[in-house]
Amino acid sequence: MAQADIGLIGLGTMGSALALNIASKGFSVAVWNRTTAKTRAFTEEAGDLAARVIATESLKGLTAALKGPRVIILMVPAGAPVDDQIAALDPFLGPDDLIIDAGNANFRDTMRRMESLQRPFLGIGVSGGAEGARHGPAIMGGGDPAHWARVEPILTAIAATYNGTPCADLMGESGAGHFVKAVHNGIEYADMQLIAETYGMMRDGLSMKPPQMAEVFSDWNEGRLSSYLIEISAKVAAAFDRATDGPLLDVIVDAAGQKGTGRWTAIEAQHLGTAIPVIEAAVAARNMSAQRGLRSDLAEQFGGVGALELPLKTLEAALTCGKILCYTQGFDMLRAAAGSFGWSLKPEVIARNWRAGCIIRSAMLDHMADAFEQVPATSLMAAPYFADILTETIAALRAVVVAASGAGLPVPAMSAALSYFDTMRQARGTANMIQGQRDFFGLHGFVRLDTGAKDQHGPWAGS
Ligand code: 6PG
Repeated sequence: MAQADIGLIGLGTMGSALALNIASKGFSVAVWNRTTAKTRAFTEEAGDLAARVIATESLKGLTAALKGPRVIILMVPAGAPVDDQIAALDPFLGPDDLIIDAGNANFRDTMRRMESLQRPFLGIGVSGGAEGARHGPAIMGGGDPAHWARVEPILTAIAATYNGTPCADLMGESGAGHFVKAVHNGIEYADMQLIAETYGMMRDGLSMKPPQMAEVFSDWNEGRLSSYLIEISAKVAAAFDRATDGPLLDVIVDAAGQKGTGRWTAIEAQHLGTAIPVIEAAVAARNMSAQRGLRSDLAEQFGGVGALELPLKTLEAALTCGKILCYTQGFDMLRAAAGSFGWSLKPEVIARNWRAGCIIRSAMLDHMADAFEQVPATSLMAAPYFADILTETIAALRAVVVAASGAGLPVPAMSAALSYFDTMRQARGTANMIQGQRDFFGLHGFVRLDTGAKDQHGPWAGS
């Protein structure tokens, strides 16, 4: 009997958590997984919520269990599995049935699917990990508002809330939801890298031990840096390893994994011609972290690092400063994408959406939402609240980059943030030299500063 409000395909960690979240909010959900054993295990573990779960063992069974017009969420790995799943599902669907891809899809795939599929389709970014998916993620939607409206009651019910406001929003048309999620992940990479660099300075420059660092991060979490990532960094630093009778952090291999979303953000920034050097530095740092063998050889060849003398307050201020500059770049990129793709992305909506549920949730995002509420087109660097903090903290960021560089400690994201700041507040830059060089070897022409005349050439051009 067709009775379920919504269907969900893919009972991996995120899919299972999302299905339970949907059921816990009073909706009935029909589920299907490629391997039936997983579906059975899921139903057994669903406890009381199993009453609102319809476990199905075929796609035909799944579609038959859904009220029409149907809504089906896909929670399968990004890429070809999504296309395969859509193709397998298609024969069982009617023309008005809505498919939602809630995985970490590349927004360009989402755009392609939206254009080629002859049916309603939404691409939504879901952030917050398994815990968020189960108890309230941030949901970034993309697609036709009429399709979004069909599923909005369920999505707003399952989303995280910030002061009662659900973090589920239609970000814009087409691939906008997955694009916003990619930028979220780019910022996530940068935020994590800035924290990792700070950890590195505490460990190698200040000779601190993880339990001490845990206290510092916990303390910072009470202030302006208050955020999920600082909170979990404190917990990671505090974790104890029984096998070695010491801090767990000391036995974790220093090579970071990556599924690709941060890389996509860096690649798209190049397509858009936007500067996101802090995010790019974070992606590059993950790539360098993977070169463990080479790093260990080079460490022997080039030697070690020196100590630092830096008050923890300076590190805290530098991290605050770097974080603001990183978000400035992320929001600049969102603005550029809105212009380039013709999406109606609203920075204040995005900042509000990110205040709860997602991995980059932080106290600062509420102030960002306020800043964009007042002037949507502003750079965060120019927004009064953040301009004041930058003025107050930039000296700390400079001191940290100088000290770390002097001691031979790598701070790629912090350095990128500082160079970005120095570049963006320099009215007379140095690209006039580049224009001169381009004209010298390629007669590309330059604009004169004094008269504004275009297509000018230097004396090397001949007459
Ligand atoms: C989130 C996370 C989530 C996941 C990414 C990161 O918002 O919940 O971003 O999507 O952790 O897959 O993956 P990588 O670090 O492996 O790129």
